[in-house]
Amino acid sequence: MFNSLENASRKHELYKNVISTNGNIVFYRGNLKNPEYLFIGEAPGQTENKFGKPFIGRSGKLLDGWMANNGINNFIVINTVPIIPLNSEGKIRKPTRAEIEYFRPYVDDLIKIINPSKIICLGRSALAYKGLKLENLEWDGNIGFIYHPAYYLRRGRKGIGDFNKLIKNFS
Ligand code: URA
Repeated sequence: MFNSLENASRKHELYKNVISTNGNIVFYRGNLKNPEYLFIGEAPGQTENKFGKPFIGRSGKLLDGWMANNGINNFIVINTVPIIPLNSEGKIRKPTRAEIEYFRPYVDDLIKIINPSKIICLGRSALAYKGLKLENLEWDGNIGFIYHPAYYLRRGRKGIGDFNKLIKNFS
């Protein structure tokens, strides 16, 4: 299922980050078959790169709390790009538009196969990948948007009230 994404990853310039950090391509975490929720993040961070799973660092812990609080246990988490983006100093950076575009067809295919009931974009990179313009906590059909967990962490907020509202706003 992840063969074409893996092949595309190995051919991309970003793959040098996997090699230089002795890290991993990061595919998914959760239920691959018709989950209730698909969460799309941005890109793997240091912890995710190390262990090969998305959202297992600080942002992931926050997301897990959001889900637990809403009884969400049938989900899958992926990112717009499967490789950690690093700048020339080896520091983490946002994925570029071009990087998101490069991986789009592979991520599109995956989402078709996974066939989730609802999709939640975590942050603006995921929203850009979906080509949508939404305000925080808005839905367009079965696609919802909430600021990235890292946004809440940076402001010392838990974001739980916002996430609960997002879930309630679905109609
Ligand atoms: N932030 C993301 O967007 N994705 C991850 O997998 C981890 C942190």
